[in-house]
Amino acid sequence: MSLYYDEFANDDLHVVGLEGLVPASGVGYAAELLAQIPKEVDRGLSSGNPFDGISIPAGAVVLDLGCGTGRDCLIARGMVGESGRVVGLDESAAMLQEAQRLSAGFGYENVAFHCGSVLDLPFADASMGFVISNCVFNQIENKHAAFAQVARVLEPGGVFSFSDVMKTPEASPRLARSKTLCLARAVLVQDYLDALLDVGFSSARLQEARPWPTYRGVVSAHIIAVR
Ligand SMILES: C[S@@+](CC[C@H](N)C(=O)[O-])C[C@H]1O[C@@H](n2cnc3c(N)ncnc32)[C@H](O)[C@@H]1O
Repeated sequence: MSLYYDEFANDDLHVVGLEGLVPASGVGYAAELLAQIPKEVDRGLSSGNPFDGISIPAGAVVLDLGCGTGRDCLIARGMVGESGRVVGLDESAAMLQEAQRLSAGFGYENVAFHCGSVLDLPFADASMGFVISNCVFNQIENKHAAFAQVARVLEPGGVFSFSDVMKTPEASPRLARSKTLCLARAVLVQDYLDALLDVGFSSARLQEARPWPTYRGVVSAHIIAVR
């Protein structure tokens, strides 16, 4: 089955300069984070920086949901070192093929990529210390079901840090008819926070919300929740 994001897998943002796509340096990634990874791993599909405001220690186990071509998995590997583990999951086989190709040069034995859905995570209960995600949940209609999966795989006290495209009450109802998937299915920041508490997170807070320059009431928001 061909998925919406398959066609982005082989685009090189830095060659074609795709309209509307912003490199990670433009959505909050510091140069030091990006210095560790090849430039081509960034496809301009991110909304913010889920590493902000959290501290991932050496030895941690990190899951990146909707990992795309794997940039955040490689950054996380730099934090967890040899004693930790990083898992990237995405439903697009084309994206994962690129993630595997781009990470192969590093020879890491503790970075793995899985094809699957956020709605049915193939991981054991309480098996992750950190779950990160970047610009993914906006595409999922049943946010409660997706967040319940994240809560299930996180250990008690585990941290879920994610950036996404969200709405504020000022957003136009017409956004729902947008052809851009992340705008059409965006929901209010408050709906995200409520849903996280509903499924069992002990806390959920807005770390940052930056207005999108082109749409009133649309923000690139970063939420940090603790299991
Ligand atoms: C906008 S891209 C972001 C990719 C990456 N996180 C980044 O920052 O570059 C969204 C990614 O989420 C994946 N995705 C969307 N819905 C998903 C789902 N239900 N389960 C797994 N992956 C999903 C897409 O295939 C795509 O790779």
